Amino acid sequence: MSKPKILLTRKWPEAAESKAQELFDVTLNADDHKFSIDELKAAMTNYDAICPTVSDFQINADILNVANRRCKIIANFGVGFNNIDTNAAKAVDVVVSNTPEVLTDCTADIAMGLLLSVARRLGEGERLVRNKKWDGWCPTHMLATKVTGKKLGFIGFGRIAQAVAQKAYFGFDMAISFYDPYPPSAQIIEKYKAKQLGSVEAVLQESDFVTLHCPGGGDNINLINTERLSVMKKTAFLINTARGDVVDEAALVQALKAGVIAGAGLDVFVKEPNVTEDLLAMDNVVLLPHLGSATTETRVAMGLRSLANVEAFFKGDKPHDRVA
Ligand code: DGY
Repeated sequence: MSKPKILLTRKWPEAAESKAQELFDVTLNADDHKFSIDELKAAMTNYDAICPTVSDFQINADILNVANRRCKIIANFGVGFNNIDTNAAKAVDVVVSNTPEVLTDCTADIAMGLLLSVARRLGEGERLVRNKKWDGWCPTHMLATKVTGKKLGFIGFGRIAQAVAQKAYFGFDMAISFYDPYPPSAQIIEKYKAKQLGSVEAVLQESDFVTLHCPGGGDNINLINTERLSVMKKTAFLINTARGDVVDEAALVQALKAGVIAGAGLDVFVKEPNVTEDLLAMDNVVLLPHLGSATTETRVAMGLRSLANVEAFFKGDKPHDRVA
């Protein structure tokens, strides 16, 4: 039997591409260009499976509804799958899977890194040294905000959030609270002595740091808006490693300029790779280029997980990480 024909829409780490070559009749994206809508439509008719990712155009009804579609499974490279219209996929019986778990720790590391960086002014300090503007130590130089022992609030308390809580609670003695419409088990809540709150606002109001861990898209678009930012403490920091569209970026800029909150640490943006110009000039924000899962170990694991889902599908099994 011939091997399924699959397409990786972007360049993957070598070990994951090699595995794809071993298992499938795979087409790689050697020059790593972003596929156009037309290329994605053509892919739908030419491949049995497509492995897209967050930086592709959204695979929507228009793309899924091409004539003579051959593609039967979209195995996303990424845990977030807002780059795929899952309702449109369901409507035409195309299976969708993602890559959870393997990126949990690394994404949590980046959330904690952003929290520490923005609170302790690490980016600003590094720029000072590199620009040869450092005059030397003195008791009042670059005073910042203490992290240890502070209150950390979570919007969404799934796997990545819990991995952040693990570091923050056990490593930094932080008090954990969260809002999640689908809360974890009582055992997990107890592990972090976490306070379960009844609304997003309740978390925002009482936290020194707020970290976002909910999916993007849908009802979560602009979840953090002007109104919600205004209930945060003036001394509080917002951390986003989830999806850019969860935060109204214009409202955030206004809040930062007006001193409504103290700062923000952002790994994701509404119009990646474009970042709202105002943010670039602010010292009280730390900006990263969507690095959450960006370690060799994790990106290889994501590729292998995506391939395992395709493999299971063509063996006639249910892909382990099926989301639609
Ligand atoms: C994820 O896996 O969701 C990362 O943000 C990259 O897509």
